[in-house]
Amino acid sequence: MTSARQMHLGLFILGTGSHIAGWRYPGAIDTFQDLGAIQEIARTAERGKFDLIFMGDNLYADPGSHPSYTLRLEPLTMMAALAMSTSRIGLGATASTTYNDPYSVARAFASLDHISKGRAAWNAVTTSNPASGANFGRDLPDHALRYEIADEFVQVVTGLWDGWADDALVADRKTGVYLDPAKLRSINHCGKYFKVKGPLNIGRCPQGRPIVLQAGGSEPGQALAARTADVVFSVTQDIDDAKAAYASVKKRLPAFGRSPDSLTVLPGVMPVVGRTDREARDKLNTLQSYLDETNGLQLLSDRLGQDMTAYDLDGPVPDLPLTEGSQTFARTILAKARREGMTLRDLYNLNSAARGHWVLCGSPVTIADTLEHWFNERAADGFNVMPPYFHEGFEDFVDLVVPILQERGLFRAEYEGETLRDLLGLPRPERA
Ligand SMILES: Cc1cc2nc3c(=O)[nH]c(=O)nc-3n(C[C@H](O)[C@H](O)[C@H](O)COP(=O)(O)O)c2cc1C
Repeated sequence: MTSARQMHLGLFILGTGSHIAGWRYPGAIDTFQDLGAIQEIARTAERGKFDLIFMGDNLYADPGSHPSYTLRLEPLTMMAALAMSTSRIGLGATASTTYNDPYSVARAFASLDHISKGRAAWNAVTTSNPASGANFGRDLPDHALRYEIADEFVQVVTGLWDGWADDALVADRKTGVYLDPAKLRSINHCGKYFKVKGPLNIGRCPQGRPIVLQAGGSEPGQALAARTADVVFSVTQDIDDAKAAYASVKKRLPAFGRSPDSLTVLPGVMPVVGRTDREARDKLNTLQSYLDETNGLQLLSDRLGQDMTAYDLDGPVPDLPLTEGSQTFARTILAKARREGMTLRDLYNLNSAARGHWVLCGSPVTIADTLEHWFNERAADGFNVMPPYFHEGFEDFVDLVVPILQERGLFRAEYEGETLRDLLGLPRPERA
């Protein structure tokens, strides 16, 4: 029997996998620049009836923390290529609101939406690593300012997507009328950070507007998500955290005239699947044995926004303030470290496994049971699946866990509808 509410599943592709040393696992892919391998990953996701495949991005090359994430194809370019080798799955790409212009971003995602026939999604990130600034000639603004800029940025992008009516293109051979000028409009935006006339030189998208993804969980991050996002990627380490983050962002929606169902919350999870719980645990231990202390400490320093090499690795986790970097990761992993009385080494091991996200290790049934529990407890509307490595680390999830979720009526057995909006159960927006 199909339950009324069903999960949504996104696949987060990050380097050769989310475990920072996953590329060392026997048989794992070891480059993220090979389009053929990425196409195979996308086909597996589509076989698993995933809603969305999503690629994160950084704007600098630093092998320090996650070596296989250093080399990557530019996400929008890659998604345009994947649009040609997939037919149903949503295609999400990251573009920074700090180091881009809204006109270019609106145009690029509108193009992806046309190319993919309604499957485009934009992960609007504020960028949290100062290293990016050195490549754009401007320092990373502080946290509050980044979100203020992001707010105006998303508003401009959305306005541009609404510039053309669906029937603005007339192309009447008899009369010679190509466009109806009354059906396109400028936005004439003149704000604090951007001045954009519009309209775009691309017609209204198949989805009306591409899907907006958001992943900032700080106070201003949640406020931005509540105003503008269709999907939120949350960071969590346990179900109570996840329930609190879920409730916190959902309760903000009515203030913007939105229903709680109009926003899909997907906590990140790195599933490590074995035939038995024991085999899964052994697999995780093998992955952890590949960790390199330098990479692990660098990633921990990135997540906490401060240099962690100065501290004793076998001492307690020090009391640290939140910084101008990414606040959610720091808050989430520090809270878990305190709850469990971790040493810094424990914390670095935890953080290296899934870059600060939740690791769920077990047999297919253990994993399906846990995901079902989280879903029923309203800790999640589904999950952002972050395989530790490709391909096996993802194929095990698709071939062993997804069928259990389908049998239980928790996840679709077939694709329905045409666009990513359809998969997410979201209506095509009216032109504002
Ligand atoms: C699942 C997920 C994916 C993310 N992808 C990116 C990314 O591709 N690029 C990026 O710069 N930041 C990325 N982030 C970081 C967030 O967008 C956000 O900038 C960061 O968490 C800081 O915001 P906060 O202080 O509100 O938490 C991601 C975060 C999460 C949870």
